[in-house]
Formats: sequence, C-alpha cells, structure tokens
Amino acid sequence: MSTHSLRDPQVRSVLDELHAAARGDRFKFLGLVPRLAWGFLRGKGFFDVITPHSMRNVYIAVPPDEGQFLYLMTRSIAARNVVEFGTSFGISTIYLAAAVRDNGGGSVIGSELEVNKHTVAVENLNRAGLGAIAEVRLGDAMETLQKTPEPIDLVFLDGWKDLYLPVIELLQPRLRKGAVVLADNIHTFKKDLRPYVEYMQSGENGFDSTTLSVSDGVEFSIFAG
Ligand SMILES: C[S@@+](CC[C@H](N)C(=O)[O-])C[C@H]1O[C@@H](n2cnc3c(N)ncnc32)[C@H](O)[C@@H]1O
Repeated sequence: MSTHSLRDPQVRSVLDELHAAARGDRFKFLGLVPRLAWGFLRGKGFFDVITPHSMRNVYIAVPPDEGQFLYLMTRSIAARNVVEFGTSFGISTIYLAAAVRDNGGGSVIGSELEVNKHTVAVENLNRAGLGAIAEVRLGDAMETLQKTPEPIDLVFLDGWKDLYLPVIELLQPRLRKGAVVLADNIHTFKKDLRPYVEYMQSGENGFDSTTLSVSDGVEFSIFAG
C-alpha cells in the first residue's frame, strides 16, 4: 500500500475543516464590492483596493482538486525542498508538506505577510502533524525567501500577482535542473500576469512552460537549467 498522507485522519480532518471555512470567502468577497466600486470610481486599480491587509481574514485558498494536484505533482518529482509564495491560512502548504513527508522528508518554506494569517497557518500545520516539515516565514517574501534550503525542487506561486516575476527571479539561481514551478490564477489575472507568463514561455530564460486549465489557470514550468 502506498503512503498517502492525504488519507491520514489528522491531515484529512484539518483540511476538511479549512476547506469548509474557506467556502465562506464568497460572502466576504461580496462585502468588498462597494469598496472596489468606490476605488474604481476614483481611478484606483484592483490591487490598490484589494491589498493583503484588506484580505487578512479571507482564505483565497486553492480548492480541493488543486490541492490534490499540488500533492501529486510534488510526489511525482519526489520533491524534498519546496518553496511557497503566499501561504494564507496554510491550506496549500498542508498539501505540499503532506507530499514532502510522503517523499521521505524535507522542507516546505512558506511565506506570509499578514501576522494573523501567519499565526493561524503555523497552528494549522501543527494540528495536521506537519509542523516539523513546514516552516512559514512572516513578512515580505522578497525578504523572507532570500535564503532557503537548496537546491529547490518545486515552487508554488500564489501571493500577490505583481511579485510572481520578482520572486521567481530571486529563487531561480537555487532551482535544480528539472525543478517545477507552479503559478496560480493565470486566467483570473491574465493582464497582471502577462509579464510572468511571457518570461516563462519565451524560451529565453531557462524555462519550458505552458498554461494548464487546472482551477483558474496554473502556469506549469520546468527549469531546464
Ligand atoms: C491567494 S492567498 C494564498 C492562498 C494559499 N496559497 C492557500 O491556497 O491556502 C495569497 C496570500 O499571499 C499573501 N501575500 C501577499 N503579498 C505577500 C508578500 N509580499 N509576501 C508574503 N505574502 C504575501 C497574502 O497576505 C495572502 O494571504
């Protein structure tokens, strides 16, 4: 029988609880509509209004099928060193850490700007029994990810969209040949993420890449070295 931490009752119960709580996000998004409309009327862009702080109580998490995809991808390349940009309350981090544990151990370095999310993410990982594998670093990922265990096998990008490109440029020298980079929300933030997608798909920056129709678009890139 294969080792499969997503079937571990301790992991499963925390994930089920968090996914159920994350379904409440839709009501929180509705509450942001007047603020967005007021911002647009004053010429502000989406990310001028929707800041990490304004979303400090919102999960904006990967859904279960995308979490499963993260788990399977991490297993399939036997990743031991994983880095995540944008941890929120730790749902995606639990999938990544479960996979690293099933690969025989290693580390997942998460990153979160908001202090309340960081505190709860650490608690959630501990409750899932994955605290020894996952470390969530508090602060701006451009600072907190300056040093990580290396070589990095897999990166998951899910923080604010203007930083996908700077974060991957920061991490690129530490990627192993064949490393996988997954970047979320490509369809939803098509315009904001165009520079990132062009960088990954141009063939000039060391990556081979394509956009997958997983969830709301995941850019799947391999570091060719
Ligand atoms: C879409 S959510 C992440 C969801 C998470 N990956 C999950 O599936 O549960 C994005 C998170 O990135 C965080 N964030 C935004 N900018 C950041 C930065 N510069 N450094 C670290 N975290 C950041 C936000 O506070 C937010 O919690």
